[in-house]
Parts: sequence; C-alpha cells; structure tokens
Amino acid sequence: MKRVLVLYYSQSGQLGRIINRVVKGLERRAGIQCDCREIKPREPYPYPWSFYAFFNVFPEAVFLDGCPVKPLDIAEEYDLVVLGYTIWFLSPSIPVTGFLQTEQAADLLRDTPVVTIIGCRDMWLIGQEKMKSLLSGLGARLLDNVVLTDQGKSLYTFVTTPRWMLTGKKDRFLFFPKAGVAEQEISASDRFGERLAEALALDKEQGNEPLLSGLGAVNVNGKLIATERIAHRSFLIWSKLIKRAGAPNSLARNIVITIYACFLFCLVLTVVPLNMLVRAIFSPLRRKAVAREVAYFEQPSGR
Ligand SMILES: Cc1cc2nc3c(=O)[nH]c(=O)nc-3n(C[C@H](O)[C@H](O)[C@H](O)COP(=O)(O)O)c2cc1C
Repeated sequence: MKRVLVLYYSQSGQLGRIINRVVKGLERRAGIQCDCREIKPREPYPYPWSFYAFFNVFPEAVFLDGCPVKPLDIAEEYDLVVLGYTIWFLSPSIPVTGFLQTEQAADLLRDTPVVTIIGCRDMWLIGQEKMKSLLSGLGARLLDNVVLTDQGKSLYTFVTTPRWMLTGKKDRFLFFPKAGVAEQEISASDRFGERLAEALALDKEQGNEPLLSGLGAVNVNGKLIATERIAHRSFLIWSKLIKRAGAPNSLARNIVITIYACFLFCLVLTVVPLNMLVRAIFSPLRRKAVAREVAYFEQPSGR
C-alpha cells in the first residue's frame, strides 16, 4: 500500500477541482491510499477581493512572509506529497508559503518526494523557482511539476483574471473569453493522478526521474519569460516601498498602493506595448536563448 498526501489551498475552488480530478486518477488504482487536505489560513483571505485587500497582500506574498495556518490532521509519513498551489504576485500564495514555514511541513517533507501542481493565470515561473527553494530548504525532493493556466491570450487574461478576483465573475463579456482554466483542461487532469499511481506501483517515486513525461504537464510560453523577470524586479522594489509605508491596511500603505496602481496602469499602457514591439524586432536574435530557457522552465516533464 502506498500513501499519498494531497495538499492545496484554493479560494474560488478552481484549484480544488483540479486537485479533485488528480485524486480521482490516483484512486483509480488499487493499492493507493490518498489523504486530501486543504491548507487553511487562521485568518481567511477574502474572495472576491476588494481592490485594497488585493494589493495589501502584495509585499507579504513577494517576500514570502507566509501567514499562520491551521495544523493539518495528517499521518506522519507519506510515500508522495502532491502540493497544489496558486500564484500570488509571481510567488506561491501566502497560505501555502505559511504552511511550508511550519514545523509540521518540516517534519512531513524531509526526504519526501513532492509533485507540485500549479493553477494560475499564466505567470508562474518565478513562483516555481521560489517554491523550489522553499522545498529544498525543507529537504524535500521535487520530482515533477504540473501547470494549468487560464484560457485565452495573455492580453485577455490580464483583464479576465483580475475581474474574476475582484468581482467573482468568470463569465464571457465583450470579446473576452471566460476567466480561469478551461473546463476540458480541468477534467483531463485525472491523467496526472493515473500516471502518478502507475509510477508509485513501480516504486518510481524512490528514483529521481520525472514521472509525468509526455502528458503535457507544463507548456511554457517563451514570450512571457522576459516580461515575468522584469515584472518581478519591479515587484521587489514596490513591495519594499509598500511594506515600509505601513502595516497592512494602514492609511499610509493604502496611499502608496494607490500610487503603485496608477504607476502600473501607466506601465501597461506604455512600457508593455513598447516591450512587445522591441521583443518582436529582436526575437529572431534571441530564439536560441529563449528555447534554452523554455526547456529549463519546462523541466522535469515538460510538454
Ligand atoms: C492576490 C492574487 C495575486 C495573483 N497573482 C498572480 C500572478 O502573479 N500570476 C498568475 O499567473 N496568477 C495570479 N493570480 C491568480 C491565481 O494564481 C489563481 O489563478 C486564482 O487565484 C484562482 O485560484 P483559486 O480560486 O483556485 O484559489 C493571483 C491571484 C490573487 C488572488
């Protein structure tokens, strides 16, 4: 009998549904015992978010401050841990970071194989780099990664995802597609669970080879790599400024957040189109370098 612990934190329930499909796939095979647990912050985060609540978590997410979470009712040891997380401001969501900072996580994850499952808009590369360092700090062995991103082009999800987060509305409107991960992609996630169960039956979790090859576990959009790096650099600067301005939800912090939001709005109207133009001009010169980076971020299993 192999024991699998599946952990996740989901606000709207979207990542929860992805995780449920993975668990269904895992449980299709006999000889697997699967415990599925939701990470719960002691103080719940709002959903939908108000504008200021949303930006108030920005610095703490970027700096991986974490938050207190409720202890989980789990066994002492598992053969595999599946960790489902969403991305907040190019970083793992605060409750998941908070969990990874607990003693319970330290005890659970030491020398334990982990597979991460990300459900996000489409900017997760830096978040997964941060996750890798959190996991390696705990002595966990990251074996594989799955990423499901929101449907529609990046320019559209730049509108549909924040609209969904700030209003709870996911429906199509004007020429924008529905927000969130496509339903077919969610339903097809059981294939990851089935493959993990197969791998466990063959003791493959004890090795270091990727487990999910050929399943389309990760598909990196090379065009977003530079954008994400630039955004993260600016996030580090603004997070510091917002944090220094005052405690969460203080008037001083909200004033700096307002300035930041105006700055972001101007940035989107000016620097983003300019950046797209420059990238289009220089993309033939950067093709090889981008292909190398795509291959790096798509590891372990890739497309
Ligand atoms: C505060 C906040 C910040 C977010 N930042 C990002 C981000 O940087 N990159 C990204 O791809 N998605 C981002 N998202 C979207 C989430 O990763 C995720 O898709 C969304 O919260 C839905 O997940 P859930 O309802 O299952 O929790 C953000 C969401 C929130 C609430």
